[in-house]
Amino acid sequence: MTDETWMETELAQLRAQGLERQLRVMPDSGGAFMLDGQRVLNFSSNDYLGLARNPAVIEAAVAALRRWGAGATASRLVVGTLECHAELEARLAQFKRYAAALVFGSGYLANVGTVAALAGRHDRVLADKLAHASLLDGATLSRAEIHRFQHNDVDHLVCLLRQKPPSARDLIITESVFSMDGDLAPLRDMARVAQEHGAMLLVDEAHATGVWGPGGTGLIGEWGLQQAVSVAMGTLSKTLGAYGGFIAGSETLKRWLVNKARSFIFSTGLPPPAAGAVLGALDVLKKNPGMGADLLRRAETFRTRLQADGFDTGNSVSQIVPVIIGDNQKTLALARRLREHGILAAAIRPPTIPAGTARLRLSVTLLHTPKDLDRAADILTVAAREEGLL
Ligand SMILES: Cc1ncc(COP(=O)(O)O)c(C=O)c1O
Repeated sequence: MTDETWMETELAQLRAQGLERQLRVMPDSGGAFMLDGQRVLNFSSNDYLGLARNPAVIEAAVAALRRWGAGATASRLVVGTLECHAELEARLAQFKRYAAALVFGSGYLANVGTVAALAGRHDRVLADKLAHASLLDGATLSRAEIHRFQHNDVDHLVCLLRQKPPSARDLIITESVFSMDGDLAPLRDMARVAQEHGAMLLVDEAHATGVWGPGGTGLIGEWGLQQAVSVAMGTLSKTLGAYGGFIAGSETLKRWLVNKARSFIFSTGLPPPAAGAVLGALDVLKKNPGMGADLLRRAETFRTRLQADGFDTGNSVSQIVPVIIGDNQKTLALARRLREHGILAAAIRPPTIPAGTARLRLSVTLLHTPKDLDRAADILTVAAREEGLL
């Protein structure tokens, strides 16, 4: 056995700071279920429209499983591109209103591979301060110079764009709906300045796809920015209920990524049941184009209630509602207290978010009834009072 005491020492330090993470096995993944003999409401899922367990989605996954098998058996460039992948890519391109789409093994892989394929050692990546780890990991892999602009601060972004060396290419990266804050990027202004400075703009729509925009096209679709946003990323693992990630863009971008994105090239194709499930989810969305708007209305009612009760929900305007506490230990204590009262809410701590902004991240889904949301708000108030936070 190699000596692992250094791991134990560092883990103990993390624990002391309230930062050690642990896996918990869940008996279910729906909006409400029995946990240790108690009914709990689940506010930690990204299955915003409840599609992961939609019968039509499950049927489509089963059909793909039977037709194509459990795995793609090879990387996409070898013999791992099956008809279900081609169909999924055509449907995703149509859904996002782009010329083409390319599916990756996960959203993480889509971001890592795409950022690293679009920027090189002599280029620059300009990233929002709160951009997701997968985008930043891609930037690190690209070996480009990385600059961070203040969150959603277009003036700061412009300052950075003005400093571009003539030989470098700039890639701007941001999320459209921020995963831990539920606020929106000023995409129209960002797209304008990107165009003015000849920079590429990659927008991660992991939390917007399926919820925002007409029929769930995302925030790019909501504001009709497909021409200005050259790289639109989405995941199949949140609203679309399954697993996988994708990039939508031009045919040229797709060909570039097929040839250059290492996380695409050196990894097995998406399992067919996941592709089938997403095709099923896209059908459900097509038949029910108002699902996202319905969710956003419910989330707004919930957020307004929490604000009236004295909680700090930051700049959230979406289905992601943070309750910002600040201190790691106090946030953990509140999450524990909520759990005792039957609410599952993730305590989000650094490094996922900046130090001093620890929070509960509540995601509202269509699996929560208005009554569930009222009950959750009541419980939050009681729990926060018990912890001396209100
Ligand atoms: C903003 C953002 N981008 C990318 C990802 C990665 O997506 P996936 O879970 O499909 O790997 C996530 C998920 O955590 C995310 O929140």
